[in-house]
Amino acid sequence: MWILGIDTSCDDTGVGLVKDGVVVVNLVASQTLLHQRYGGVVPELASREHTQVIDGLMQQALEEAGLKPADLDLIAATRGPGLIGALLVGYTYAKGLAFALGKPFVPVHHLEGHIYAALAEHPEVEPPFLALVASGGHTHLFEVRSWGEYKLIGATLDDAAGEAFDKSARLLGLGYPGGPEIEELAKRGDPRKVPLGVPLEGQEGFAFSFSGLKTAVARAIEKGYPPADIAARFQQVAVEHLAQVVTRAADYTGLTTLLVTGGVAQNAALRFQLEASGLRLLFPPRGLATDNGAMIALAAWRTQTPNPGNQLALPAAAYLPLNPAP
Ligand code: KG4
Ligand code: ZN
Repeated sequence: MWILGIDTSCDDTGVGLVKDGVVVVNLVASQTLLHQRYGGVVPELASREHTQVIDGLMQQALEEAGLKPADLDLIAATRGPGLIGALLVGYTYAKGLAFALGKPFVPVHHLEGHIYAALAEHPEVEPPFLALVASGGHTHLFEVRSWGEYKLIGATLDDAAGEAFDKSARLLGLGYPGGPEIEELAKRGDPRKVPLGVPLEGQEGFAFSFSGLKTAVARAIEKGYPPADIAARFQQVAVEHLAQVVTRAADYTGLTTLLVTGGVAQNAALRFQLEASGLRLLFPPRGLATDNGAMIALAAWRTQTPNPGNQLALPAAAYLPLNPAP
């Protein structure tokens, strides 16, 4: 069974092809260079670029897999959440294709895509487990109770983890996206030299918070601490905060498997920190951590129903909660 997955929720155009649950093609047209000079994603520019590249990327994906459009069995696209103008490009393209080909169409929640990306090489894993989605737009911790049943345990009170990396990188005069830039600079810094505290330390709940950290970075820059030391301390504190919350959630729920996904999951310091938790850790393979189309096809593969019905009527949605479990 061939599934096409499309994601245009933010600044990457993603087209993926999955055969019987295995990723065969995963093409991402990155807009990083386009948005870099603005220090963040400009929504209108993102939508325009998606419109320009989506059809060519789709043709290339079919070519690489040796397929004709009629060979596709199911078409899936990100319905939300995301930038509405950007989402609409891929979502409407996919709907049109499904309608023209007479194939079933499956709308996918973007975070569900991120979750299934981390399971790409672990088909044996079964719920329940914890899933931390840490990206530029989200810091959400879910308890996945059964397939399709997600209980939100904790989320950020303000900025997302990736957003904190991006904003702090900008303050430090680094490029966009900030995560990899901070990770690189941090290698040359000494975290012990900068007094930044871990957010919400001692809390009883499972909330995340990153905006205070960003402000603390701004203050440390004003005080003249060396940028590499600030980057090192910022990263240490950010990953410690993430690790503290998920470890406490694991203790509370009794769950022993943690899936970590989204762009921030690529951070080596975070992986290292989490390894000390003793939890079974699942990360997405290379190329599937940041936004892509294959993860959307993987989610459709796992959650498909034999007869998905007419889902063409569902509109794209900038704000879309993931199925809350009772
Ligand atoms: O999942 P993603 O591609 O897009 C969203 O859905 O937001 O995540 C992008 C985010 C950016 O904020 C970027 O700075 C962050 O992931 N990121 C990282 C690393 N690589 C990407 N953050 C920390 N360390 C990294 N190595
Ligand atoms: Zn994402």
